[in-house]
Amino acid sequence: MAWGAWCTAAALLVLLLAAAGGDGVHCLEHGSGSRRALRQRTHRLRSRAVGGATVLELRHHSFSPVPSKTRKEELDGILSSDAARVSSLQRRIENYRLIRLSPEGAAAAAAAASMAQVPVTSGAKLRTLNYVATIGLGGGEATVIVDTASELTWVQCKPCASCHYQEDPLFDPTSSPSYAAVPCNSSSCDALQVATGMSACGGADQPQCSYTLSYRDGSYSHGVLAHDKLSLAGEAVDGFVFGCGTSNQGAPFGGTSGLMGLGRSQLSLVSQTMDQFGGVFSYCLPLKDSGSSGSLVLGDDSSVYRNSTPIVYASMVSDPAQGPFYFLNLTGITVGGEPVESSGFSSSAGKVIIDSGTVITSLVPSIYDAVRAEFMDQLAEYPPAPGYQILDTCFNMTGLSEVQVPSLKLVFDGGVEVEVDSSGVLFFVTSDSSQVCLAMAALKSEYDTSIIGNYQQKNLRVIFDTSGSQVGFAQETCDYI
Ligand SMILES: *[C@@H]1O[C@H](CO)[C@@H](O)[C@H](O)[C@H]1NC(C)=O
Ligand SMILES: *[C@@H]1O[C@H](CO)[C@@H](O)[C@H](O)[C@H]1NC(C)=O
Ligand SMILES: *[C@@H]1O[C@H](CO)[C@@H](O)[C@H](O)[C@H]1NC(C)=O
Repeated sequence: MAWGAWCTAAALLVLLLAAAGGDGVHCLEHGSGSRRALRQRTHRLRSRAVGGATVLELRHHSFSPVPSKTRKEELDGILSSDAARVSSLQRRIENYRLIRLSPEGAAAAAAAASMAQVPVTSGAKLRTLNYVATIGLGGGEATVIVDTASELTWVQCKPCASCHYQEDPLFDPTSSPSYAAVPCNSSSCDALQVATGMSACGGADQPQCSYTLSYRDGSYSHGVLAHDKLSLAGEAVDGFVFGCGTSNQGAPFGGTSGLMGLGRSQLSLVSQTMDQFGGVFSYCLPLKDSGSSGSLVLGDDSSVYRNSTPIVYASMVSDPAQGPFYFLNLTGITVGGEPVESSGFSSSAGKVIIDSGTVITSLVPSIYDAVRAEFMDQLAEYPPAPGYQILDTCFNMTGLSEVQVPSLKLVFDGGVEVEVDSSGVLFFVTSDSSQVCLAMAALKSEYDTSIIGNYQQKNLRVIFDTSGSQVGFAQETCDYI
């Protein structure tokens, strides 16, 4: 590919710090010993060059005035937020289908859209989802939550009608000579309408394109669509379109400045930086108990990967109604080497989303039930334990010094096999191992869309190649700091 050579030089590596709060999934397999060490980590962000890439060191945004909850409360929150995100994603997927079907459908989708955004609250409450990157915008810096199922990047802007506390100084349009609001008659404003169903243009005195992103928990960001110079560790992107949010609400955003949209569609950072990064980005999500960091790489520079197995590529499933989502064709699953038999694999139910912001992989019932049965079979020696929230396949492993975790492989169209890291197979609800569950859940309906969550993507290099319409996978130990 023509861009291959020079996007190498432009590749950007961002380090994703592991869940520094330590209260989430991360604590399950050990105590909170790493927590203090992580808190003591320097908060100053640095950038440096590594090989052909530019590296941004990144911290987890652990700023929170809220007194720490008990581990159980934290876990309850994690899984219920995750369930909310999953059902919210189902509604958004349906909305994009409606938009494609008819003008009436588009209107209905637009009306529903404000209710159907991904709840960023889960992204922020869930320590494990709290991957933040610092970008330069119009001369200032903004630390934003990274989300692959979101499209529009937004930051809080002056003058604030309402803003949550953020650690970086607020973005001030008046102090940036390169800032400009996006006019109503621009293609970006049209794209916004499709993305949110909510764009609005004022009269002659307000020729600007406003956006409103509403999330299910009542948090929101509202402001105008604007463009300014984006800087990613020295790489400049002129005219980057983003939301300049003057009215924002939601404790979930913590001390961040806003959100980075890494979805597949027109307004996302990936699409807008096509010239610099060739439409390719990748991440490596760390094991939560290692107290280390992961990385986000913009651009296709495989020299900065540390993969220990060759990269295998699965084709994305293209669909005019895909919206910002990354779809793959899941054609099989093996458990302990045994192929799982399910009619779901040969039907449209095999079309799944891969998402960095969902924790637990959720599968349509036909596939989940088959996977569950195979696990039950292979773990039959362990006494059953009660289910926990969305997790219904649990065992009492109290007192065992060793557990044989069956290997779990996802098979994508073309026979592409991806082995899930053994840490991503079981979920330890209690620290005494009296409730250890299969870390996957069933969706409500066969017509829902299965989602591969981040719990099953740990210690993998996952490469999103939008130009080649493929997703690459390789094993990698994700401890960068
Ligand atoms: C948008 O409107 C402005 C002012 O009316 C006009 O100058 C400009 O050419 C229009 N742009 C497009 C893309 O239509
Ligand atoms: C798990 O097993 C242990 C030891 O066999 C037992 O004492 C305990 O009550 C069990 N816990 C649950 C939740 O079943
Ligand atoms: C998924 O792969 C199967 C097997 O190759 C194929 O029959 C099916 O049409 C594919 N589905 C999609 C949505 O591409």
